[in-house]
Amino acid sequence: MSLRIRDFRPEDAGAVNRIAVAAWDQYRSVFRDWPRSAPNFARTADFAGELDLLIAEDAAGIRGFVGYVAPGRPRERIFRRDWATIRMLSVDPPSRGRGIGRLLAEECIGRARRDGAAAVALHTSPVMQAALALYLRLGFSHFRDIMDRHGVHYAVYVLRLTAAAGPAPGRGLRGWLGRWLDKS
Ligand SMILES: CC(C)(COP(=O)(O)OP(=O)(O)OC[C@H]1O[C@@H](n2cnc3c(N)ncnc32)[C@H](O)[C@@H]1OP(=O)(O)O)[C@@H](O)C(=O)NCCC(=O)NCCS
Repeated sequence: MSLRIRDFRPEDAGAVNRIAVAAWDQYRSVFRDWPRSAPNFARTADFAGELDLLIAEDAAGIRGFVGYVAPGRPRERIFRRDWATIRMLSVDPPSRGRGIGRLLAEECIGRARRDGAAAVALHTSPVMQAALALYLRLGFSHFRDIMDRHGVHYAVYVLRLTAAAGPAPGRGLRGWLGRWLDKS
């Protein structure tokens, strides 16, 4: 079986949690709050009710996953309600560099178009070099900086799908307002 993307099923929970722990372990020495944040990766499948978990699998099993949030569904205030969002893109370390991350992100973009989203958005950090490079190659651009998370810099990146997605806020009043809203 070649690689395919499908929706999460309850029996995937163990593999999703294992891959989340393995994938994010590379930030063990980077996230300043690692002891507090690490246990959450082992519970990633619990998010399956809040977002659509998409699974990448081949004949050997599950290789990675991503969370897709359709426009209009509950999300953090840093993301507009008419945007789709990508969450927790994760690929098992032994399966990396085969285009699985890209395929998962492209599936989210395809679903966002299907769902009429004005844009696809995500937050990421410069410490996530492979992810950031992948998003930039897919056409995402920096939207605005947000408050640090896990003690590292984070920013919102957006791929506009329609003109309604809005302009980049820049560093002026709108950027300041956005950061203030993050805190409130
Ligand atoms: C980001 C991640 C999902 C990518 O998965 P992947 O299956 O290896 O991704 P792909 O194979 O589709 O693409 C990897 C690309 O990144 C490139 N890449 C790999 N390591 C890189 C690095 N350190 N810096 C820049 N680019 C890198 C590869 O060369 C490849 O580019 P190519 O398509 O031009 O050959 C995976 O590294 C991961 O799970 N990281 C940990 C979790 C994470 O950071 N998630 C992102 C949250 S925003």
